[in-house]
Amino acid sequence: MYDLIVIGAGPGGYVCAIRAAQLGLKVACVEGRETLGGTCLNVGCIPSKALLHASHMLHETHENFEKMGLMGAHVEVDWSKMQDYKQDTVNSNTGGIEFLFKKNKVDWIKGWASIEAPGKVKVGDTVHEAKNIVVASGSVPSALKGLEIDNEKGVIVDSTGALALPKIPKSMVVIGAGVIGLELGSVYRRLGAEVTVVEYLDVITPGMDAEVQKQLQKTLTKQGLKFVLGAAVQGATASDDGATVSYQLKKDGSEQQIEAEVVLVSTGRRPYADGLGLDALGVEMTDRGYIKVDGHWATSVKGVYAIGDAVPGPMLAHKAEDEGMAVAEVIAGKHGHVNYDVIPSVIYTTPEVASVGLTEAAAKEGGRKVKVGKFPFMGNARAKAQFLGEGFVKLIADAETDRILGCHIIGPSAGDLIHEVCVAMEFGASAEDLALTCHAHPTVSEAVREAALACGSGAIHA
Ligand code: NAI
Repeated sequence: MYDLIVIGAGPGGYVCAIRAAQLGLKVACVEGRETLGGTCLNVGCIPSKALLHASHMLHETHENFEKMGLMGAHVEVDWSKMQDYKQDTVNSNTGGIEFLFKKNKVDWIKGWASIEAPGKVKVGDTVHEAKNIVVASGSVPSALKGLEIDNEKGVIVDSTGALALPKIPKSMVVIGAGVIGLELGSVYRRLGAEVTVVEYLDVITPGMDAEVQKQLQKTLTKQGLKFVLGAAVQGATASDDGATVSYQLKKDGSEQQIEAEVVLVSTGRRPYADGLGLDALGVEMTDRGYIKVDGHWATSVKGVYAIGDAVPGPMLAHKAEDEGMAVAEVIAGKHGHVNYDVIPSVIYTTPEVASVGLTEAAAKEGGRKVKVGKFPFMGNARAKAQFLGEGFVKLIADAETDRILGCHIIGPSAGDLIHEVCVAMEFGASAEDLALTCHAHPTVSEAVREAALACGSGAIHA
């Protein structure tokens, strides 16, 4: 009898299993994939970051090496070697989780689980017993009507297919200007493809700060990505040498078509809990297909918990990890907690985009009076030396109390910089607290301090 069986070994599930074992529980984790780590490590965050890194390096050699006096032969791409590098990166990370399971004495039950009854998890022909069950079954790409994904064929693909195309396409249409579309669109643009992003809304990256959206679109356009906004994709048909995508322009209702060698469908993901038997068990779901949970991640069935992409909230690996740790604490009789107001999000384009907390618009809609401190990376010496002077830090603070409400960064290392603001927010800091904190020179982090100064008596270098 286990204290806990976790179903799914993605960032939510494996972190939950390890934390629960560290807290002294007897734990197993069920995973049907050949390797641990879920979507994130196998076909998501990690392989995409390898391709983003490699293609960024290529971009640097083409765009900036000569400017720095680095001369030499033009760098060429060996796609199969780049794929090997990507796979090595994945393998070392998934292998790392296997090592951590052994180290923490978490049993990996290989196979696909279903929950027969509270406390009973069936994998293959064996029923395993546990006092508690955590469902961390994740999400899958959501289908778009009129489109058939075929990752094997490699013409109309989702993110999984786009990470392993047989060759670099000459042209690509990306449907959806969200995180996946812009990250993978950037990869293939840098590798030489003509990339057109078709987006339903009139802006890219819905939900982001409006000024960040504009700056990102401008910068990506400069990098050669094309955008068709306000366009509802209605279908796509594959032929032998590519596909034709049909869309309707919202402004005049006209029907349009665009052709490309590869079409990437990145129009969102949906929670995944198929085959677990949750229906028969009587687990309540939301009308959008998420597993309903209370403030302690308990489902409507006693002893069954759920976390990560399968429950409401942003579909982010680190949100799942936090829930994984917190639910392990709850099950171990402690006080697990997740502060949903301070969950950063990052887009790993170049420049990176990162945000946490309220946008200026959301704060104002909520009836708050805010101060906005903005600082451009053009005023940051380190960023300029690296040709990364585009973009800015925008800090939002309460006009009366000076408490930091949010931060939005587009620029170098934005995904790392955002965390000093996260820590500040967790401590209930004011913009002045950040402004009074010494930041090493020359670092790009000085831009965050300058934005905080701009919330008060003014930035120095702007
Ligand atoms: P998304 O929700 O970020 O963006 C989807 C976009 O597709 C939206 O802008 C939407 O308006 C557009 N769209 C939907 N239907 C359309 C249609 N018929 N025609 C034209 N446009 C249409 O979804 P995405 O990029 O697929 O990502 C899925 C999830 O994975 C997100 O929740 C994201 O946060 C997560 N993710 C996070 C990453 C990160 O943190 N760096 C990386 C990759 C994924």
